[in-house]
Amino acid sequence: MSKEAKLELDGKSYTLPTVTGSEGEKAVDVSALRATTNYITLDDGYGNTGSCTSKITFIDGDEGILRYRGIPIEELAEKSNFIETAYLIIYGDLPNHAQIKRFSDLLTDNQFLHEDMKFHFQGFPSGAHPMAILSAMINAASCYDEDLMRWQWGKTKQFDVYVARLISQVRTIAAYSYRKSKGLPLIYPKQNYKYTANFLHMMFSNPYEDFEIKPEVVKALDLIFLLHADHEQNCSTSTVRMVASSQANLFASCAAGVCALWGPLHGGANQSVIEMLQQIHREGDDGSKFITAAKDKNSGRKLMGFGHRVYKNYDPRAKIIKVACDEVLSKLHITDPLLDIAKRLEESALNDSYFVERKLYPNVDFYSGIIMRAIGIPVEMFTVMFAIGRMPGWIANYKEIMDEPKSRIYRPRQVYTGKTINHYVPIHDRK
Ligand code: SDX
Repeated sequence: MSKEAKLELDGKSYTLPTVTGSEGEKAVDVSALRATTNYITLDDGYGNTGSCTSKITFIDGDEGILRYRGIPIEELAEKSNFIETAYLIIYGDLPNHAQIKRFSDLLTDNQFLHEDMKFHFQGFPSGAHPMAILSAMINAASCYDEDLMRWQWGKTKQFDVYVARLISQVRTIAAYSYRKSKGLPLIYPKQNYKYTANFLHMMFSNPYEDFEIKPEVVKALDLIFLLHADHEQNCSTSTVRMVASSQANLFASCAAGVCALWGPLHGGANQSVIEMLQQIHREGDDGSKFITAAKDKNSGRKLMGFGHRVYKNYDPRAKIIKVACDEVLSKLHITDPLLDIAKRLEESALNDSYFVERKLYPNVDFYSGIIMRAIGIPVEMFTVMFAIGRMPGWIANYKEIMDEPKSRIYRPRQVYTGKTINHYVPIHDRK
């Protein structure tokens, strides 16, 4: 028998059912609240509101735990790779040999964009932000497939093909948007390259000389993708679910996710972190001036890459990336002053009552940019890297709604605080 919540309202008492998740998370089910009490809940920023139940990712923010389909992120980071983890997140279990072979083949068979897509790239000005291009081109890519345009919600026989096509093409679009922004010729994917190596090839090769694919670089970028693969109901994933709930097609829903991810409070933070570190370096600040400013609400500055709505402990992904930073930079014989500044900022913040009292720790974005800089990814492409990594999580959440027979369109309520009734006044009678 599940526990019940008691609610006293206007002299009446009500009982509300509760829900307990597989990891003991508790929720009061308010699905019938309005019908029984004529009240709704109000929760600015949804900090206390669960929009759904989900089986994909578990986070314990107090303990700094992150698991994809029950497997700790630390184990996946050490033993798996991005494509295998993508399969796990989307289909629920680690793939066997036959399943990963089919998935890899589908990724390879679907990696080319329709040739006419090149004309869309030509339409963008050279300074266009790659996130704007990515979102637009995901929707543009769907226009070349009639079945996608006539999306049969829940009845799409080749959903797996669309899953592979989106994961594969998001990488091709990203590389093309970079090449376009630099006025470089587009480089086509190679048939025999694996996912991340092919991305580096499409980004940095040129028509007469292939880019040298260093295993340590592939490993580092693959780890970045893996660590970003899903993160329960964050802003962009909730956006994907919101659009999916209207039964829009998979590409349209994920293109909306790209837009939500772009914001500097979310996926755009990795670009803002590097810009922050560069500013501190440029100003010759040892970080203390910036920390002081970040604590001052009127400064308009935040310690980017710090803080999290859910983690009130160290983001486990930040821990993994920080270790990988040192490894990659030493293997590539790179010393980056921004890494030293980042470590100093972390050290002082973790010993500063302002950050400690608010439980502000480094999040996934604090160190990821250092690695991406080291492997040559331009800073304006950092959030695109996040989008490539997050694609499996967006797809898994889309699939979870599509596979749920009782799924309903997302339509939150509101509390109206505007003017009460008044009437039209002709313009000559207005003040
Ligand atoms: C991601 O949701 C996810 O899972 C996201 C993500 C994912 O994988 O999808 O993990 C990826 O988006 C990570 C977060 C990246 N963003 C940043 O690094 C931007 C900097 N961080 C902040 O903007 C902030 O911490 C958020 C947006 C991440 C969280 O904001 P909340 O939960 O709304 O918290 P808040 O703004 O209410 O902050 C609580 C207090 C406030 O101070 P007080 O009003 O209590 O005095 O902490 C302060 C804030 O001013 N604060 C910061 C701060 N973050 C919060 N002060 C200085 N620097 C910061 N970074």
